Amino acid sequence: MAAAPAVLRAQGESLRARVKIDTERTIGDIDPKIYGNFVEHLGRCIEGGIFEEKSPLSDANGFRKDVMEAVRKLNVTQLRWPGGNFSSNYHWTDGIGPRDQRPPRLEMAWGTVESNRFGTHEFLNYAEKLKTEPYICANLGTGSWNEAQQWVEYCNSKEDTAMTRLRKQNGRQAPWKVTYWGLGNEMDGPWQMGHRSAEEYGKFALEAAKLMKWTDPSVKLIAAGSSNYTPGSDWTGWNRTVLEFLYQHADYLSLHMYVGNQENDFGDFLACSVELDQRIKTAEGIIDAALSGRPGGRKIHIAWDEWNVWYRARGNQQRGRRILEEHYNLEDALVVATFLNTFVNHAQSVKMANMAQLVNVIAPIFTNEQGLFLQTIYHPLQLFANNARGKALDLFVDSPKYKSRRFDDVPYLNTSAAYENGSLVINVVNRHKDQPLDVEFELEDKQFAGPVSVSEVNGPDIKAENDFGKMPVKVTERTAAADGRKMRVKFAPHSYTMLKARVS
Ligand code: AHR
Repeated sequence: MAAAPAVLRAQGESLRARVKIDTERTIGDIDPKIYGNFVEHLGRCIEGGIFEEKSPLSDANGFRKDVMEAVRKLNVTQLRWPGGNFSSNYHWTDGIGPRDQRPPRLEMAWGTVESNRFGTHEFLNYAEKLKTEPYICANLGTGSWNEAQQWVEYCNSKEDTAMTRLRKQNGRQAPWKVTYWGLGNEMDGPWQMGHRSAEEYGKFALEAAKLMKWTDPSVKLIAAGSSNYTPGSDWTGWNRTVLEFLYQHADYLSLHMYVGNQENDFGDFLACSVELDQRIKTAEGIIDAALSGRPGGRKIHIAWDEWNVWYRARGNQQRGRRILEEHYNLEDALVVATFLNTFVNHAQSVKMANMAQLVNVIAPIFTNEQGLFLQTIYHPLQLFANNARGKALDLFVDSPKYKSRRFDDVPYLNTSAAYENGSLVINVVNRHKDQPLDVEFELEDKQFAGPVSVSEVNGPDIKAENDFGKMPVKVTERTAAADGRKMRVKFAPHSYTMLKARVS
């Protein structure tokens, strides 16, 4: 890594940076739905994760109570289900009716047998218990228009129809009113069951979208945007074509991104959010182009409805029961915090995001039959979701930079700020592995009203991992002094910190 001049300081000596904050200079409203999550029928995410029927830790519905408590603290604002790749061959009628009579089916996305014991009622009841917004991804792989339309009718209609009679017969009188519906998952990927070209998908999804909106005009539809960034794949072309078909019906464009530290290069790994930022800007441009000159003032937002660190538990382990069980360390948690900063910094366009996934499978919560532990990535998600609300602020940031293997000019200081009713929340990642970052914050239009609470996520080293009974990567709390318009805070090497201040 070539170093910016400041890096030449002795180890342990601080780098210096400045941030200016004006609470009237806003980017947009932070949509709480950026703190969403995702449960797929995959490995031990649902069965053995949120749902374990025979466990003494579960309630009468089969929901793991300890998991539910950890999920509640994450303040999950919306929850996507049933996949993922799984959704592309999921026929929802298999998952309704008496549990013991539901058909087991070969599951080809992940190479197992799907019991169907967790279906629409279980998912929507779970979401209700959590008080989270459900988001259902319809099967636009092997599924039909009819099937997608009838799923909306089953869940949302007040009319007396065969579908709503069936819902009532299965124990649910009132409609659930599911607002968010995905028009398939990762349809640009050859790995997807029912993969299509952009034109074929666009045409197919348009007909599904029409029927779904004619069934319930209040639904919001998420079009399957790009997920395939392998060399040679035309991901921008995919998004352009899909929006040519769906610009009148899609409310969101779904984008996916997973990152990893395959090269064991801390500086480069910590810079992954630079690429996320570039992809968001590219998608914003494509959406603007798709809507430009069209009548009606429609808006299409970005839904990053799958994102996370995922690289160790890939490849050969992709079949069977304990798959995708990524064990996270401190550097992964820092990358997660930089992703959340990036979503906040694009609050005007990114209106939904789902960390993939919730439990066991590339997840912040990890269980066994006796209990659970909180992975390192749980902490940034929990701090953001509970605190970074309101308006995203457009900050002036002056930070020393470095050059990594893939990226030039990466600021050591990665930050975002949220402001709501006198509460200012600043999230900071110090991307430097060894040196502290000494930052002066200056308020342009307000004064600090008292000391600032500081929550720092850090650990003994960048590879430290949490496990059952041990949590070396944790949140520590302290306060920082703030005087008038200014505050100076020193951020430890390889740390993520949330500052919470009252300003007036
Ligand atoms: O989240 C794991 C998998 O990653 C999902 O099933 C799929 O959509 C993506 O490729």
